[in-house]
Amino acid sequence: MPLISKYEAVLPRHIAFIMDGNGRWAKKRGLPRTAGHREGAKTLRRLIRDLDDIGIEYATFYAFSTENWKRSDEEVSALMKLLEENLDDLVNYENENIRLRFIGGRERLSQVLRDKMEEAERRSCDRTGLTVTLAINYGGRDDIVRAAKKASELIRDGFLKPEELTEDTFESLLQTADIPPVDLMVRTGGELRLSNFLTWQTTYSELYFCDTLWCDFTKKDLEKAIGEFSKRNRRFGDAK
Ligand code: IPE
Ligand code: IPE
Ligand code: MG
Repeated sequence: MPLISKYEAVLPRHIAFIMDGNGRWAKKRGLPRTAGHREGAKTLRRLIRDLDDIGIEYATFYAFSTENWKRSDEEVSALMKLLEENLDDLVNYENENIRLRFIGGRERLSQVLRDKMEEAERRSCDRTGLTVTLAINYGGRDDIVRAAKKASELIRDGFLKPEELTEDTFESLLQTADIPPVDLMVRTGGELRLSNFLTWQTTYSELYFCDTLWCDFTKKDLEKAIGEFSKRNRRFGDAK
C-alpha cells in the first residue's frame, strides 16, 4: 500500500467521517430534512470512490447513532429506507473492489435491513480494496459496554483470566476488532464534537473539523483534510 501518494502526503490508513449537516443543507433550500439525507447519501457514494482512488485502506462512516432514535418517526424511517436503498447500490460496485462491513447494534434494525447488511458483507468479503464500514445504530459507549459484557462472559466461562484482560484483548472484543485505529477523524457541518463515535478507537486520532455541510463535501475537501493530516506531528505521548 503506497504511503506517499501523488498528493505527496502521508496518507492516513483509516479515516472516519461524521457526516453532519444534512438537515441544515435542506433547510437552507426550503426542503424537508429527508431531502438533505438523500443528497448526503450521494456524497457518501461519491466519496467512497474518491477514497478508493486516493488509496485509502479503511473508511468508516457514521450513518446513524444510538442517539438518533430521538428524531421523529418520519425522519428515522426515511433514514432507514435510504440505508436499504444505498446498500443495494453499494453492493453493486462489483468492479470497484470495495469491501463493506457494519458496526452498531443490529437487534433494533428491521429484518429487511439486516438481511441486506448480511448480503452486502457476504458478497464483498473477498474484495481487497477499500474497506468501508458503515456505523448504523452505533455508539462508542455501547461498543465498549458490549465488549465488557463479552469479556465478563469469557471470564465467567473460564476462557479468559482477569489478569489476561489487557488493552489488546479488550480491543479484540470491540466491533472494530479487525480494523486499525482511526488516524484521521473528519467532521463536516461545523460542530466541534465527536457525538459518541468510535470512543475507544480515536484516542490518538487527528481531528479535522470543517464548516462545509456533508452534502457539499467534495474530493477537494477530502484532499484538504488529508493534506492537513500529513502536516501533523503525531507523537503518541513520546517526546519526538
Ligand atoms: C447528519 O445530518 C445525518 C445524521 C445524523 C443521520 P443531520 O441530520 O444531523 O443534519 P443537521 O446537523 O441537523 O444539519
Ligand atoms: C452525529 O450527528 C451522528 C451522525 C452523523 C450519524 P448528530 O447530528 O446526531 O450529532 P449532534 O446531535 O449534533 O451531536
Ligand atoms: Mg447533526
